[in-house]
Amino acid sequence: MAQARTLRHLIDSRDLSVREIASLLRTADAILAHPKEYAAACAGQKIATLFYEPSTRTRLSFEAAMLELGGAVLGFSSQDSSSAAKGESVADTIRIVSGYADAIVLRHPKEGAPVVAAKYAAVPVINAGDGGHNHPTQTLTDLMTIHRELGGLEGLTVGLCGDLKFGRTVHSLVSAMTRYPGTRFVLIAPQELQAPEYVLDMIRQAPAECSFTLRRSMEEVMPSLDVLYMTRVQKERFFNEADYVRLRDSFVLDPRKLRGAKTGMIVMHPLPRVNEIDPKVDESPYARYFEQANYGKYIRMALLLALLKGEGGAL
Ligand code: NCD
Repeated sequence: MAQARTLRHLIDSRDLSVREIASLLRTADAILAHPKEYAAACAGQKIATLFYEPSTRTRLSFEAAMLELGGAVLGFSSQDSSSAAKGESVADTIRIVSGYADAIVLRHPKEGAPVVAAKYAAVPVINAGDGGHNHPTQTLTDLMTIHRELGGLEGLTVGLCGDLKFGRTVHSLVSAMTRYPGTRFVLIAPQELQAPEYVLDMIRQAPAECSFTLRRSMEEVMPSLDVLYMTRVQKERFFNEADYVRLRDSFVLDPRKLRGAKTGMIVMHPLPRVNEIDPKVDESPYARYFEQANYGKYIRMALLLALLKGEGGAL
């Protein structure tokens, strides 16, 4: 009798090895080049998108990804429209949805909720963002963007700017990029929004040789950057409105600040942006955030193929 495959979840970007990430990137490139060849790859299968927090790109790109693979999608897009509003626990919801779908994509405001979900799930659980903690599929999107736009993931100087404290996409991206040799992180934030100590520790204890500097201004570091990763100040994670209002416009990227940038540098942003990138930057040769959002669909197709079909390697 064929051995059942072990259940794999994606909770943290380090749940994937560097080889597995390389394999997902190859699959995503192949899908992007020949999307029609994958149009029935997941026919007869379903994913459930359980979103307890707002989302546009993550949820819709997962749904588009599954539909473009010939599969189907069910789920909810807010706590209020699910039994969570009646007090149902994540554990119970996951047990039930495990019987309705072949994989579960979960976004939750509580850090660690996907770990609980994985404990009770009979199908793969994909963390689509847990509070201010992690967002591994955004990281896959970011890695695909860097890989396609800069041709590789090693030896890069990556500026991360904005809310490095609460920004889960930053935490996951740092975690992933510490495994590529020569990454130099430039962490640009007001003191109160600097990256938490555990994130700095990930760089100090990086599996590959990496370094970081803490900065308060983007202009002075602009010429050194290969990537400038802008982020939104995470209003929903602040304890009081006054602190948010004081910090929200700490860093606003405009064409003037980009003057010192290297040719070929790319500006990324997981989106949504609020005020931190002047729309005039959209026309500059550096802007890649809309391409980035588009890559998100292809890398999620590759991930779903790997989790549901075992395609593209060991997942
Ligand atoms: C991010 C998130 O939800 O963490 N958005 C996304 O998934 N593209 C970033 C953010 O909300 O600021």
